[in-house]
Amino acid sequence: MTLATLGLYGLGTMGSALALNIAEKGFGLHVANRTDDRIPEFMDEAGELADRLTGHDDLAAMAKAMPAPRAIILMVPAGAPVDGSIAELLPHLAPGDTIIDAGNADFNETRRRTAELEARGFAFIGMGVSGGEDGARHGPSMMVGGTRASWEGIRPVIEAIAAKFDGAPCADHFGPDGAGHFIKTVHNGIEYAEMQLIAELYGLMREGAGMAPAAIGARFGDWNAGPLKSYLVEITAEVLAATDRTGIPAVDAIVDAAGQKGTGRWTVIEALKLGQSASAIEAAVAGRAWSADRIGRAAGAALFAPERGAVDLPADTLAEALLAARIVDHSQGFSVLAAASDAFAWDLDMARIAEVWRAGCIIRSALLDDISAAFRDGAPHGHLAFAPAIAETLKSVLPALRRTVSAATASGHPVPALSASLAWFDTMIQARGTAALIQAQRDFFGRHGFDRVDGGAGRHGPWWG
Ligand SMILES: NC(=O)c1ccc[n+]([C@@H]2O[C@H](COP(=O)([O-])OP(=O)(O)OC[C@H]3O[C@@H](n4cnc5c(N)ncnc54)[C@H](OP(=O)(O)O)[C@@H]3O)[C@@H](O)[C@H]2O)c1
Repeated sequence: MTLATLGLYGLGTMGSALALNIAEKGFGLHVANRTDDRIPEFMDEAGELADRLTGHDDLAAMAKAMPAPRAIILMVPAGAPVDGSIAELLPHLAPGDTIIDAGNADFNETRRRTAELEARGFAFIGMGVSGGEDGARHGPSMMVGGTRASWEGIRPVIEAIAAKFDGAPCADHFGPDGAGHFIKTVHNGIEYAEMQLIAELYGLMREGAGMAPAAIGARFGDWNAGPLKSYLVEITAEVLAATDRTGIPAVDAIVDAAGQKGTGRWTVIEALKLGQSASAIEAAVAGRAWSADRIGRAAGAALFAPERGAVDLPADTLAEALLAARIVDHSQGFSVLAAASDAFAWDLDMARIAEVWRAGCIIRSALLDDISAAFRDGAPHGHLAFAPAIAETLKSVLPALRRTVSAATASGHPVPALSASLAWFDTMIQARGTAALIQAQRDFFGRHGFDRVDGGAGRHGPWWG
């Protein structure tokens, strides 16, 4: 297959880094940006790599200058900028050309764009890229959705620029249309949960045990040498060790209101639409929303004047609690992926997803190595936590999660994601729960009917005579 001429539009943080990565791997690349004064600046940043880069004044000029077949990567914000860029491009493309949306798109929009563009003879690839600026520059993890033929057209480039784990590229094609963007969305949902869990444990050590940020950072550093080894634990250790220019811990100089751009929320929305609940991820999205309500929290603090008790649990207990909750948030994320795979007939390869997340991306961790092995060993569809090796670990660390959540809630320390993880586990190991009563209530007020334990569907209770 002829390798398409490559172009990239959007030389912001991610686009610039990705363009330099592509050029460094020996590929020629056409580049353009909405505001064209970025081009000379970018060429300067590129140094010797500028020889492989051709800058253009705008998107149309770039497309016109590129010989067909073209593959044009868009690295612009999700939503209207993607649609606007596609509309600007189309008059200058020929059937067989490929547009690649490498930003964080809502997979529903990717499905719509795929249908519209394929009907006109163009190929559209929705590609999730993870790893932040450093990953994009030196090796991101990439999740590709689109036709297999369009994937084969860009595969050599994507595999060359991807992060490598044991020499294998952390990039793959997972299915048609929105599959790649959906996987990236769930990746980010898991990322939200992991960050929230880490923040909750930081809060317990800081407020409950009175530890200084640097000491907590050192603890995260220790944890990063064991089963909790992960990029997020590693950077937490670095962040907490840092001192601000004013001499205080860097973390204390930062307003406690977390930002969000939508991927965590999308994960929760799609999970609910699929009849799932990724409750640890949901708690993380809620945690960010509550953090942003600073006025409300200040009013609550003044009104209730909370007195938080001491929580001084051993470091090993907190570490095990984190591992248990991390298993749950990954399990929930993979359940959402399994449900989407069934709903959209994507036939997602869960082991391969875990494998491409093992390097380059923000949630890379030792746990993902165990998870990919569990899927290769035939983990039950949609129930990662019940795969033998994972369940064995969970059994050993679950008591620590229970102890941590109990101590935290008894002393007034908020741990929404840790609690949600524990509640999910306790629910999922109940062969018979309490939903029979809910079914009875539904039948009582709405004649909704229920299934009987001794057989028979759509039955009604004695309250209907
Ligand atoms: N930052 C990350 O860690 C990260 C990680 C993974 C994925 N992403 C995703 O990657 C994409 C780009 O993010 P970024 O962090 O690189 O953003 P960024 O630094 O803000 O850069 C945005 C780029 O898009 C261009 N742009 C903005 N609005 C546009 C419009 N309406 N039409 C055409 N071009 C427009 C900007 O051009 P101007 O120079 O003219 O403003 C700039 O080149 C987003 O979808 C983001 O969610 C980001």
